Amino acid sequence: MTTVCEYKPGLEGIPVAQSSISYVDGQKGILEYRGIRIEELAAKSTFLETAYLLIWGNLPTKEELDNFENEIRYHRRIKYRIRDMMKCFPETGHPMDALQASAAALGLFYSKRALDNPDYIREAVVRLLAKIPTMVAAFKLMRKGNDPVQPNDDLDYAANFLYMLNERKPDPLAAKVLDICLTLHAEHTMNASTFSAMVTASTLTDPYAVVASAVGTLAGPLHGGANEEVIDMLEEIGSIENVRSYIDDCLKYKKKIMGFGHRVYKVKDPRATILQDLAEQMFEKFGHDKYYDIALELERVVEEKLGHRGIYANVDFYSGLVYRKLEIPTDLFTPIFAIARVAGWLAHWKEQLAENRIFRPTQIYTGFHDEPYIEITER
Ligand code: SDX
Repeated sequence: MTTVCEYKPGLEGIPVAQSSISYVDGQKGILEYRGIRIEELAAKSTFLETAYLLIWGNLPTKEELDNFENEIRYHRRIKYRIRDMMKCFPETGHPMDALQASAAALGLFYSKRALDNPDYIREAVVRLLAKIPTMVAAFKLMRKGNDPVQPNDDLDYAANFLYMLNERKPDPLAAKVLDICLTLHAEHTMNASTFSAMVTASTLTDPYAVVASAVGTLAGPLHGGANEEVIDMLEEIGSIENVRSYIDDCLKYKKKIMGFGHRVYKVKDPRATILQDLAEQMFEKFGHDKYYDIALELERVVEEKLGHRGIYANVDFYSGLVYRKLEIPTDLFTPIFAIARVAGWLAHWKEQLAENRIFRPTQIYTGFHDEPYIEITER
């Protein structure tokens, strides 16, 4: 029997899974990971503890967390052949493309697939969380012809990433702030890249292909790529005086204002509120950023003009201002989003495997039937 369903562009409002990983209340601006509010995790947890929570469903004991962190520390290095492969990537290529290719390449090196073996699942989780930051940092240096910096075992996850990226040990506040950013970006229910990860996972392919597929999806400007576009937009606006005319032009020509709007949130994204606070902490310690003044005015005018339609700042609006103060180049903003979101993708991968059925939706055919084949000479 065929049931006729209403077609919803973008699958808006259509559930594609049952999940206990995270929850969003878009009217109240609430985000929870495994039932714990994002504000609480940002204040009290660390990214790796949060990743453990998302993937295994419970907060780890001290011993469980120590073991998890140590395993990740041990696996941070990447094989020299992956480094050699990355050296051949064009220096003008986008780091998200480099990351997608390198994540997929991990599947070449760790090709034995055993999806029903918990040890295999854990190894894949550890490898991906450990190696993705190393690959992002390596590409940043190698595209300029420099050697990558090896991971530093004395440093925690975020501090080590900044060390590999900027070639020096980071200030403790900078490392703490980046760790919170990773926690904030770790998971967000059924967003586009997570859905992509789950579709890929549902074919029972390897987890490296799952993550590579999700990285490609996150890269787009309507999704994770918006954090880079926000900085381009602030540069283009250039001064507070230009904000209003910029927004008027966007509305007139139906151009999207980057870092605003969300399929689920109809109020300000709670992550944007925390990121704004982190940006202010960074400015206080490391100096002001004039783009912040433009951003504040932009948020005020967007709220005035579009607030009644539920369009407010999303997670991508303030993150770039934080990353700029961490001395991170703009085209690495989305790879940093990816480093964090690996945790969420893997949590959904694991959940999908527990009750897998291949994704195979349907379509509403709008083409012709029984058309004649016209010979090439007669077309
Ligand atoms: C992320 O889904 C997630 O959870 C994603 C994410 C995560 O953590 O995984 O939260 C991360 O992707 C954040 C979103 C980053 N993207 C941007 O900042 C790009 C700008 N925003 C938009 O393009 C848009 O708001 C989306 C893509 C985020 C949501 O798209 P929808 O739900 O398909 O909404 P839409 O484009 O159909 O917009 C509905 C209406 C439209 O007006 P009408 O045609 O009905 O008149 O709202 C308008 C839109 O034009 N609108 C905007 C706008 N966002 C929506 N108008 C101007 N500027 C905007 N930013």
